[in-house]
This record gives sequence, structure tokens and C-alpha cells, in this order.
Amino acid sequence: MEQTLSPAAVWAYTFFFAYYPYLAAGIFFSGLAWRLTHENKTVQALSTQFLSNDRALRWGSSLFHFAVIGVFFGHIFGLLAPEPLYIWLISNETKRALAVAMGGAAGLVAFAGIVLLFVRRFRNERVAAFSTAADRAVVTLILLQIATGLGGTMVTAVSPLESYLAIDHWAQGLVVFQPEAWKWLLDASAVHKVHILLGFLIVCIFPFTKLMHMVAAPILYFVRPNRVVNGGGM
Ligand code: HEM
Repeated sequence: MEQTLSPAAVWAYTFFFAYYPYLAAGIFFSGLAWRLTHENKTVQALSTQFLSNDRALRWGSSLFHFAVIGVFFGHIFGLLAPEPLYIWLISNETKRALAVAMGGAAGLVAFAGIVLLFVRRFRNERVAAFSTAADRAVVTLILLQIATGLGGTMVTAVSPLESYLAIDHWAQGLVVFQPEAWKWLLDASAVHKVHILLGFLIVCIFPFTKLMHMVAAPILYFVRPNRVVNGGGM
């Protein structure tokens, strides 16, 4: 990991892989608070189903949402689980094999879904006419994010185990505020770095876009008591 870096490179690494993630977290949480307190009536993803209830929407949306939830939990466990938590159960080699197989499978399904949604967003005349620049930007960004994530998985599949583990060390270092954690990314592939930068860009824009509909997911719907709509009986 020791290599001589120019001052500019040290600055760039420190900014993008140490400060920028915290900046993104700050923008995310303050944006979230602002959106929920000042703009909460607009927390939704305006459905385009009434414009065109086509197969691309039904398949694309189902495949994407189903798989991206798996990808999300894969990121949490894969990047953030400390070694003592899992090492008694699975070795690091097994963890990487799982990340490549399960992450890769979920990533491919999510990619198929987002490609369908992307093509529909730009090619379906009614949907395209109704779309804002933000709608187009979000779908494009997510497409790129999934493509670079899959690229990263492919690199991981053919790299030494240490390269895979180095990214975990970086992520866990950030969580415990280790300012030098960026050094773990010195040998990471370009595709991994682009994926991380784009990932935190998504975190930054999240509160200001339709992605906010995620926090309005009807989770409470499943646990709240049934509502009696007509209590009068027959
Ligand atoms: C916020 C910061 C993010 C970080 C630090 C991050 C990090 C990573 C890393 C290190 C990998 C490669 C795993 C490997 O080498 O096997 C990966 C894969 C992937 N990422 Fe991300 N990611 C982020 C956000 C996202 C987001 C927002 C999405 C989707 C919208 C996403 C989708 C994927 C996909 C589809 C893969 C490939 C399959 C998988 O391993 O799950 N990532 N990510």
C-alpha cells in the first residue's frame, strides 16, 4: 500500500474518499430534515403508470425494486460487517464468493430492470414528454451506478482477496472516523472508485429528488392495526 503520491494526489484522495463521504452524509441528513419538515407533501415518486401502463414499467419496476433491496442489504453486510462478527461462520474467501455470486446475481437483475425503465423513460413518447430533467438524471445515474457496481464485482472476482478486503477496511474506517482510511483505496480499481464517487453523489441528491419516495415506503402499513372503514355491521 506504500507508494509515493504527489501532494495533489494526496489532496484528491483525502477529499474524495475521506471528506466527501461525510459531506454527503451531512447534505443527506440536513436535506432529509428540510424535505420532511418543509416539503413533506411532495415526498413521492409521481407515477407514470397513468400515462402508459406497459410491460416495460411492470417488469422494469418489479425487477429493479426487488433486486435493489437485496443489493442494499448486500452493501450493508459486505462493506460494514466487522470481521469478528462473521469470521466464526464464514471465511473471507467465502464472503467474497458470496459477494460475487449473490451481489452479481442481484446486480444483474437490477440492471435488467433499470435498463427497461431507462429505455421507457426516453423512448415512450408520453412518458418522455412528461419527464423532468431530474427524472432523466436520476434514472441515468442509477443505470451508471449499477453498471459500475457490476464492473467492480467483475474486478473483484479476478483480483487478490486483499483488494476486496481493502475496500471493507476503507468503509469501516470511515464509520469510526479514521482520517487515514482513504489509504486503503490506493490500489482499488478505477471502476470501484467511480462507483463510490457516484454512490455518494446519489446520497447527496437523494433528499431533493423522487428517490425520497423510499422513506415513504408503507412499512407501517404492515404493522398497524386494521382500520375499520364501516363499523356499523350488517
Ligand atoms: C454510497 C455509496 C456506495 C458505495 C461505497 C458502494 C460500494 C460498492 C462496492 C465496493 C461494490 C463492489 C463489490 C465487489 O467488489 O464485489 C459495489 C457493488 C455494487 N453496487 Fe454499490 N456502492 C454504493 C452505492 C450504490 C448504490 C446507490 C447502488 C444502486 C443504486 C449500488 C449498486 C451496486 C451494484 C448493483 C453492485 C454490484 C453487485 C453487488 O456487489 O451488490 N451501489 N458497491
